Amino acid sequence: MKTDEAIKTELQDTRESVTFGADRNKDFSQEPMCLSGRGVTRVFHTGKTTTVAVDHVDFDFHRGELISIVGESGSGKTTLSKMLLGLLEPTEGQIFFKDKPRDISTNQKKKEYWQGIQAIFQDPFSSYNIFHKIDSVLLDCINMRGGKNKSKEEKFAMMKEACSFVNLKFEELTNKYPFELSGGQMQRLMIARIFLLKPDILLADEPTSMIDACSRATILDMLLNLRNETGMTVIFITHDIGLAYYISDSIYIMEHGKFVEAGKAEDVILNPKAPYTKRLISDVPKIHEPWDLSTVG
Ligand SMILES: Nc1ncnc2c1ncn2[C@@H]1O[C@H](COP(=O)(O)OP(=O)(O)OP(=O)(O)O)[C@@H](O)[C@H]1O
Ligand SMILES: [Mg+2]
Repeated sequence: MKTDEAIKTELQDTRESVTFGADRNKDFSQEPMCLSGRGVTRVFHTGKTTTVAVDHVDFDFHRGELISIVGESGSGKTTLSKMLLGLLEPTEGQIFFKDKPRDISTNQKKKEYWQGIQAIFQDPFSSYNIFHKIDSVLLDCINMRGGKNKSKEEKFAMMKEACSFVNLKFEELTNKYPFELSGGQMQRLMIARIFLLKPDILLADEPTSMIDACSRATILDMLLNLRNETGMTVIFITHDIGLAYYISDSIYIMEHGKFVEAGKAEDVILNPKAPYTKRLISDVPKIHEPWDLSTVG
């Protein structure tokens, strides 16, 4: 049985070895505000039961910051993600996008908002229209980003570039349908989409849960490269507090719909205050044993 101190030292060593090219000392509170929330709440009523899935949470996400939201199953992470994406209305509270109250009251405004925020979901199969070939998945991204009038050759070059960013061969994908790809290829295709869409914010809800440890590390590496290159804000949703610590600038710990602790990754992990955070950290050896980040340089 490892002591909590031994676990922390191990976590710290791993974080230092897996830097993903990020500037660990950057103070993101100086960066412009990208997305914030005050008192954001979501209540579900089913029959006679009332579930407060997200309970008055406050958050401030800055440009270029990588934030992890960590919590156990049922803590409200996906419900919060859906509200951030504008797929679900908060029952109370307010969300601000780039310092202004978010307005997604019309379809047009929603569309505009979705230029700024994109998501990668737990299940990549649910993210694609299965009747659309890969080419059109990528073409749609170019068109959405104002590339409608580009020449065929230019569009082709952009699709190729996006595929090579995620180590996919465009030639092998053309004329295929999403369901003809492997889980790992599909995940990479999702990142290729993000590469083309270049949103201000990327929300990733457990994006690595379907694939083996080696591909996981590669995918994370790609995501973080994309963040470093484009300065996009990444919101990463996970059960895995160890992984959150390795990759994040800031961590929000979620329990029963509430943020019980939030702050810089170093502070939250090395100086946890909430009993729940302490418990998650002492569970780390169990959680992160299957991880192999050795393939990431
Ligand atoms: N559409 C819904 N109707 C009723 N209750 C819901 C609905 N969606 C979520 N809930 C409830 O809200 C709570 C939070 O669920 P949520 O999916 O946000 O958790 P999570 O943290 O994403 O869990 P996981 O880690 O398993 O994905 C749960 O108790 C869930 O049953
Ligand atoms: Mg979830």
